[in-house]
Amino acid sequence: MQYSAYYVEESDGTFSASISKLELEKPTDGFVQIKVSHSSLNYKDALSASGNKGVTRNYPFVPGIDAAGTIADANSSHFADGDEVLVTGYDMGMNTPGGFGEYINVPANWVVKKPSALTNIEAMSIGTAGLTAAASVAKIQESSQESDLPVLVSGATGGVGSIGVMLMSKLGKEISALTGKASSVDFLQSIGASNIIMRDEYMESPVKAMERPLFSSAIDTVGGSILSKMLPQISPHGVVACCGNVAGIEVNTTVFPFILRGITLAGIDSAESPLEFKTSLWNKFADEWKIDLSPLVKIVTKENLQHEIDLILQGGQQGRVVLEHGE
Ligand SMILES: NC(=O)c1ccc[n+]([C@@H]2O[C@H](COP(=O)([O-])OP(=O)(O)OC[C@H]3O[C@@H](n4cnc5c(N)ncnc54)[C@H](OP(=O)(O)O)[C@@H]3O)[C@@H](O)[C@H]2O)c1
Repeated sequence: MQYSAYYVEESDGTFSASISKLELEKPTDGFVQIKVSHSSLNYKDALSASGNKGVTRNYPFVPGIDAAGTIADANSSHFADGDEVLVTGYDMGMNTPGGFGEYINVPANWVVKKPSALTNIEAMSIGTAGLTAAASVAKIQESSQESDLPVLVSGATGGVGSIGVMLMSKLGKEISALTGKASSVDFLQSIGASNIIMRDEYMESPVKAMERPLFSSAIDTVGGSILSKMLPQISPHGVVACCGNVAGIEVNTTVFPFILRGITLAGIDSAESPLEFKTSLWNKFADEWKIDLSPLVKIVTKENLQHEIDLILQGGQQGRVVLEHGE
């Protein structure tokens, strides 16, 4: 039997993608086979799709770090055929073929049963971006700090950022959204940001060792000099959840924000989180953290995916992109 996939091939160091028919293989021991109905587009998928060997070592390859679907071949006692399931992260979409194909074979211990209160589209609207935002919110919630200052979210129109804004807003926090997109002010206000900060203006003044506290905590999805800039602006015992690097991988800081204000720079790695933690976040999204993501989601087919990949690589995406495979 054959299935269809967004398939990336390498030829003489050049990478190109096509919608191809691939041969479906039986799952080996410890693996289950899933018929994927939906996936989603994350920044890491765009890197895999464009030949970034730091993400995907060998091509040809099918990207897709997120998948929602039904068990097609349970091949183990943990699942039954027809179970509705979700997979995010681990090696899927990096070096194990991922959700941009209509079928995946993945280790059973990567798979979560989908909470019944979420549809597949809702789950993939969340996807890895949403789990990352939720893990960041959880880190900030762990802090006992009391402050009336807003929470800063950088890369606020992106996948992680926009869900971070929505979750924090649902939890009753005031949010300052840092963005590079002047055209997205209305969008950011509509998802719960009360104060919009333009990236160019924010970065106009040089990074200082210490500044007046401006934010209680932050979700930083971009890294680099923007992360350096915000650390001295966090109020005592605040948390900066560090989850992305689209603006750079280097951070310049002093020890002052840490030893004078006791702030925490908390790393987020949603892909490799234990399955129990991912399950707890999915259950929150299905219940007390349920948010309507439909205003920020585009649903596309495999044929339209390339355009969305190009857009995310240019930093031009807003919200989330869900891939629908169809019958
Ligand atoms: N740690 C983890 O577990 C984890 C999981 C998922 C994703 N990530 C990382 O989180 C980051 C965001 O992922 P995503 O899927 O949300 O991507 P995304 O949808 O493309 O969002 C990134 C946003 O960052 C801003 N941005 C883009 N280029 C920038 C630049 N050069 N300088 C400053 N800001 C820039 C843009 O928002 P504005 O225009 O609004 O500023 C863009 O929409 C990526 O680095 C990704 O690898 C990490």
